[in-house]
Amino acid sequence: MADKLIIFDTTLRDGEQSPGASMTKEEKLRIARQLEKLKVDVIEAGFAAASNGDFEAVRAIAAAIKDSTVCSLSRANDRDIARAAEALKPARSARIHTFIATSPLHMEKKLRMTPDQVFEQAKVAVRFARNQVADVEFSPEDGYRSEPDFLCRVLEAVINEGATTINIPDTVGYGIPELYGEFIRNLRSRVPNSDKAIWSTHCHNDLGMAVANSLAGVKIGGARQVECTINGLGERAGNCSLEEVVMAVKTRRDYFGLDVGIDTSQIMPASRMVSQITGFAVQPNKAIVGANAFAHASGIHQDGVLKARETYEIMRAEDVGWAANKIVLGKLSGRNAFKQRLTELGIEQDSEAAVNEAFARFKALADQKAEIFDEDILALVEDQDEAA
Ligand code: KIV
Ligand code: ZN
Repeated sequence: MADKLIIFDTTLRDGEQSPGASMTKEEKLRIARQLEKLKVDVIEAGFAAASNGDFEAVRAIAAAIKDSTVCSLSRANDRDIARAAEALKPARSARIHTFIATSPLHMEKKLRMTPDQVFEQAKVAVRFARNQVADVEFSPEDGYRSEPDFLCRVLEAVINEGATTINIPDTVGYGIPELYGEFIRNLRSRVPNSDKAIWSTHCHNDLGMAVANSLAGVKIGGARQVECTINGLGERAGNCSLEEVVMAVKTRRDYFGLDVGIDTSQIMPASRMVSQITGFAVQPNKAIVGANAFAHASGIHQDGVLKARETYEIMRAEDVGWAANKIVLGKLSGRNAFKQRLTELGIEQDSEAAVNEAFARFKALADQKAEIFDEDILALVEDQDEAA
């Protein structure tokens, strides 16, 4: 049996850290229910210690969700962890995700702690978290810019304390696919107890490589969990996009050889819901969920797709929750696509000469208008009938 890739969705935590994306408890609950329908393995519901509102949201999600593990983020201190554990009490399956920065820059300038202090705090935090729940994830924040020898020491210690998932954040999106993948592979080979934990990627998109880096973390590094968000929502340039990473692994199963448990037909409803609740529009050319992701405007492509969809489509629009692919009629469209639309609209032309005439009128109109809608075609054919 193929290995399973665990999908950890952090739309409600890291996604919400996107400026302007703050969500109410009710909104988070709606999204969490949709994520459960999508069959994500883990829902990071929030950061329980961050505010009373987030505590209540995590608790409400923990109570409502049955089929996904519900997770809360917490800093590596007893107070945060206890708060997370309290909020997660109603969960059928609960995870505490605790983190502390391990890069020289973050330890010295932000935490003002020595590496030894960070090492101790990480250990104590994971031990404390494991006393609350059986499922504990540890993240060395800014892990990718951390010094590997020190990181190996920390990771070995937290696995000994019972961490069940080790996540390697590329907190500032500095990674390059091969290098990030090698980074994880190197850590896994050097940490003696590495096989006692599941390794995870967490990539930000500052250089536009969050998805590529995550996939390299899986393929080269051997990670078996990917942390991601719907529509790639997240701080600055965002996080690894769930829909892209899932469809890459599914579409290129020949290369990755992994199973994902996601119900991909729920991707579009999830994307629309997150966009509508946060007010963040999805760019038209966004892979999988953008309005143009399955749209064809050029005559050559339209002709190809009408003959065999695989000519210009590597996935089915319907498989990710679109009603269908789209043939957009405009000045680049060919006669074949135009004729097909006439048929779809129930318009019958008496002869090929009539189709040709309608097509000529359509082309003239398309030179003046970016997109030709069904109403335009109906009007055009009516005018033609009246002129006849
Ligand atoms: O980007 C990051 O480092 C994080 C951690 C808290 C996991 O979001
Ligand atoms: Zn992050």
